[in-house]
Amino acid sequence: MRDVHREIAHWLEPLAAIIGVDAAGNFRATYAANKTSAARLLIGSHLDTVPNAGCFDGILGVVLAVSILQALAGRRLPYAIEIVGFSEEEGIRFGVPFLGSRALVDRLDDDLLNRQDGCGISVRKAIQDFGLDPNRMSDAVLPADACAYLEFHIEQGPMLESLGLPLAVVETIAGQTRSELVFLGRANHAGTTPMHLRFDAVAAAAEWITAVERIAQQTSGLVATVGSVETKPGATNVIAGEARVSLDVRHHDNRVRVRAAERISLEAAQIADRRGLKVIQTQGLNQASVAMDAFLSQQLEESLSKIGCQPHRMVSGAGHDAMILAEKIPSAMIFLRTPGGISHDPAESVAAEDVAKAIECGLQFLDQMASSPNFLSRTCRA
Ligand code: HGY
Ligand code: MN
Ligand code: MN
Repeated sequence: MRDVHREIAHWLEPLAAIIGVDAAGNFRATYAANKTSAARLLIGSHLDTVPNAGCFDGILGVVLAVSILQALAGRRLPYAIEIVGFSEEEGIRFGVPFLGSRALVDRLDDDLLNRQDGCGISVRKAIQDFGLDPNRMSDAVLPADACAYLEFHIEQGPMLESLGLPLAVVETIAGQTRSELVFLGRANHAGTTPMHLRFDAVAAAAEWITAVERIAQQTSGLVATVGSVETKPGATNVIAGEARVSLDVRHHDNRVRVRAAERISLEAAQIADRRGLKVIQTQGLNQASVAMDAFLSQQLEESLSKIGCQPHRMVSGAGHDAMILAEKIPSAMIFLRTPGGISHDPAESVAAEDVAKAIECGLQFLDQMASSPNFLSRTCRA
């Protein structure tokens, strides 16, 4: 992360941006307005990613923000532009996503700072180990002149490719429920324990995982994923006493998502009960769907039309920092086509001509905002 900060700061040197890293480890760089006491537009995305990831999820949004500033060629606008590279969006290390962007909306609280990773290191300790002061979290909060947030991001799915479109405006970011379940049975000898005397945690988890898939297949628009299964003791000749599994449930309608998550949770309890096991269920996230700002989205559609792209709006199945920033300031997103619809994998890619179109769209949008009384008169809702 330090190397990434250094590289982006190097790219920004010629632009005389004011650069720093806030107490949550977010990279922050401000490109001043052509006048004092101006509004501030934030453009950014996350710099962290998932294990065995591709090269574009998150980081492309920050690189695009830098490229758009570079394309201004020294031109200053009647508002400042702040580039933000969020430190932790995926939620891989500490089990809860959006830690970086929560700091900007003053929601990186003590509960989250005390959460530990698999090695018992807390968020607070990780921040200190990085050389930052978690007691200065208030410095990370959005400044009062922040009036909007724009995020460029790969779609991470097959839609734009199937429609033959390079870019789209994100209308809504689907809500997500993330939980961890631990099935507790009884370890025993694989060779001597008859089938009817077993309390097999992996068999119980397997039955539940097929129920998760069945419920999702039966519910239109719902996706549910068990991405991680850890068994103990994890030996070939031992019936597993413990199976620790993850759950990720998403839908753009919160009622559908919450109801499905409740059904899935009940299935776990019934399967455990039927098999004489226990199950411990811990919900890590209940993130509601978030609609993007109507005015900014309408302006982005206009930008797309002006650069010769067919405007298109879509729902994001992936979560993004924009859904956190939207709690405090009007937020909007532009998706770039994802060839093959592959993401969260080294095969993730983008087309150079789509990236060029995104820069063109960004520049067009900046010019529209520069002459928009509505935009310039906005104040942060913080
Ligand atoms: O999992 C997600 O929704 C995204 O990759 N943060
Ligand atoms: Mn991701
Ligand atoms: Mn992402």
